[in-house]
Amino acid sequence: MAHERRSETPQLVLAMVGLPARGKSYMAHRLRRYLGWLGYRTRVFNVGSYRRARLGVRHRESYFSPHNTAAQRQREALADLALADLLDWLRSGGEVGIYDATNTTRARRARVRERVEAVGVRLLFIESICDDPSLVEANIRETKLQSPDYVEMDPEIALADFRARVAHYASVYETVQSGEGSFVKVIDVGRRLEAELVRGYLPGKILFFLANGHAGRRPILLTRHGESLFNLEDRVGGDPGLSPRGERYAVALAGFVRLRLGAGADIAVLSSTLRRTVETTALFEVAPQRWRALDEIDAGICDGKTYAEIAAALPQEYAARQADKFHYRYPGGESYRDVIGRVEPVLLEIERQRRPVVVVAHQSIIRVLYSYFQELPAEECAWLRIPLHTVFELRPVATGLEEERHVLTVDP
Ligand code: F6P
Repeated sequence: MAHERRSETPQLVLAMVGLPARGKSYMAHRLRRYLGWLGYRTRVFNVGSYRRARLGVRHRESYFSPHNTAAQRQREALADLALADLLDWLRSGGEVGIYDATNTTRARRARVRERVEAVGVRLLFIESICDDPSLVEANIRETKLQSPDYVEMDPEIALADFRARVAHYASVYETVQSGEGSFVKVIDVGRRLEAELVRGYLPGKILFFLANGHAGRRPILLTRHGESLFNLEDRVGGDPGLSPRGERYAVALAGFVRLRLGAGADIAVLSSTLRRTVETTALFEVAPQRWRALDEIDAGICDGKTYAEIAAALPQEYAARQADKFHYRYPGGESYRDVIGRVEPVLLEIERQRRPVVVVAHQSIIRVLYSYFQELPAEECAWLRIPLHTVFELRPVATGLEEERHVLTVDP
């Protein structure tokens, strides 16, 4: 079970719209990661990849000219094929298909809409508009020139070719307009949003997610609290304070953050409401935002017990958890799936931040956040190794995330 079904079927096609180098694939990718993490079976169908896989790479700009009718037919056939694959995939149980293509003409979009609506699936156009030349140029240099289309080509020649390709699309581009169905326009990387007929639970979530998105490159530091008195006994949950080693981690962590992000730096610190994170962040220069949603997984009737006590007193519960840790819900408590649901607002808060972010929380919480950022299958997150006294530093780069792990010294 990927997620508990909502009463309304979530099947949806998100069709990207926009000129090349407007961050469509970046947005498609972020939406895939977010919706996948929430439990929706989500897949991206990228028409550029279809072209490269079937016709090879190294298509020069003339191939994209609207006057090149043979190429135009080929490109349309490939776009149709990708859409057909997307619809097949929805029929076989997919839930959100992201159609990553330019879809820059009204006629093209009408065709997409007709085919999607013919199979009873809802469609939302997501148009990315960006007229800031410096942002477009940065995107071209960082992503497009690395594309297989331009391998081993002089970067300046590649750049000129890509600009000419964009100009071909621009010559026939028509922005989405009223009457074309549901749409969201993301203008200047989220500075402004325009939306029409965006209704329902999932489209609403997508709109909110897009409103919080940006392409900023701030680091995100994730860590558990310092060792607690319960950690010493292998006891779950509760609200214990730190052990002496845990207290030394609080000192080491405050020093590390100062060194790594800069003394007096404008950063956001997020932690839970439990004693062990409050004590771990006590020496931070910045007052943390304390979120109940970042509290440790609720172990219900097992709270305060050691794993050995749970295995002895509640062997069936223990076995059920081992068998499917992700979906297992402690009686009177939570499952990892539940944790994802309640952590989501904090995730959006992290996404929204343009400042460096430090999250000091708990094992299950860092697991679900880490699995989001590193795009691990949700089911695996419950078993991730997230050791104490370790900072997971994630730095967004053009192609994804770079990770560095810092193990801080707490033993004298
Ligand atoms: O053992 C420390 C702890 O933070 C507990 O409070 C919590 O129940 C547990 O980790 C979560 O990890 P797991 O899901 O592996 O039991």
